[in-house]
Amino acid sequence: MRAPALVVILAVSSPSPAASSAADAPSALPAGAGRALVAQRCTACHDTSRLAVPGHTRAEWTDLIEQMSNVGLTLEPSEPPVLADYLAAHFPPVPRAPARVIPGRVQVAFREWSVRTPGAFPHDPFAAADGSLWYTGQRASVLGRLDPASGEIREYPTPVPRSGPHGLVADLAGRIWFTANGAGYIGRLDPKTGAVVRYDLPQPAARDPHTPVFDGRGVLWFTVQAGNRVGRLVPATGRIDLAAVPTPRALPYGIVVGASGVPYFAEFGTHRLGRIDPATLEVHEYELPNPATRPRRIAVTRGDVLWYTDYARGYLGRYDPRSGAAREWPSPGGPASQPYAITALDEVIWYCETNVEPNALVRFDPRTESFQTWPIPGGGGVVRHMMPTRAGGLVLAESGVGKLALVELR
Ligand code: HEC
Repeated sequence: MRAPALVVILAVSSPSPAASSAADAPSALPAGAGRALVAQRCTACHDTSRLAVPGHTRAEWTDLIEQMSNVGLTLEPSEPPVLADYLAAHFPPVPRAPARVIPGRVQVAFREWSVRTPGAFPHDPFAAADGSLWYTGQRASVLGRLDPASGEIREYPTPVPRSGPHGLVADLAGRIWFTANGAGYIGRLDPKTGAVVRYDLPQPAARDPHTPVFDGRGVLWFTVQAGNRVGRLVPATGRIDLAAVPTPRALPYGIVVGASGVPYFAEFGTHRLGRIDPATLEVHEYELPNPATRPRRIAVTRGDVLWYTDYARGYLGRYDPRSGAAREWPSPGGPASQPYAITALDEVIWYCETNVEPNALVRFDPRTESFQTWPIPGGGGVVRHMMPTRAGGLVLAESGVGKLALVELR
């Protein structure tokens, strides 16, 4: 077993140019018919590093282009086939490395269920207080509720077609709040009646509402990825306020609320984390040590210490906003392992590597700085989000294979 190398770096807070990396330049695109069109159409919101790994078949590229259109890409009718031909020729699927299994003393048991609608693409999961497991069926535009005791699933279609529900969270009354990243609103589902109340974002540029989270006072905070904003929704009044993120194209992604009541978020388009002042909505950014880092999701432990998955470099990162100290550990699956979903459970970090086959569940114990990993039986199909359950386990959404997984710790 290779002992993970430890990297200790102090973050510098000096200003640096906005989101830039070698992959940013359209010159990262190989020559060929359609190259200019891809450079023009596909680099406005994110860099070209999204195209190379994991790569896709032509049919998958066609699907993806349609998804991009849902979040604001506009194309002439003749363009999708030109884009799909180029992308399929130059960015075909790259085979995934096998998951690296690191044994250890912790024992887990996986239970998995297929969601009701095949191809629904469960993007995010939510473990509710009553033990039920919820998911967003992003591509089928449904919200699903699974009863793990009986295996029974009920899906609730969104009244607005192609809403593309992305993230979800329950309030104390058991209502489900979700971000409709395709249709650009926040929804509130009453599970008893199936009725959805819709809260439109007050600015048309605020496209792609992404991940929601409640703070301890019942205020909903959320990221707006493509719109490069973060938001606050006060359920008592329905009022929504938005704040712009200073770094252009920062792609605000995962969000958590620390025990102090402060929301923090990951900026997937750059090497920064953000903090939202809960009173003034002012956004402060923290720069991470390596400019190539792309933090996708975020977790928080005692004292508002932040943990992030570095999707681009294959690292687990720790950042302490109070001291500015940053530390990183290479993820067991290596630089291309694409760590993504992450959460904290009893001060231990759990996350998933999503570019290994099958996806791997990773446990990192900060006290001993040791890793343990498990292959996910159902394959994972890119685990994009996970969270603790009330019973002390974890729920994972296995997007591409259409499953939910419950991980019970022994
Ligand atoms: C209007 C902004 C915008 C444009 C233009 C755009 N994208 Fe995206 N793209 C996004 C957003 C937002 C996401 C993240 C979606 C998510 O995480 O759910 C994304 C994600 C992706 C992903 C990763 C999907 C995944 O499963 O994680 C790929 C690949 C991609 N885009 C390719 C493209 C291509 C190809 C084009 C040009 C045809 C394009 N994008 C143009 C906004 C855009």
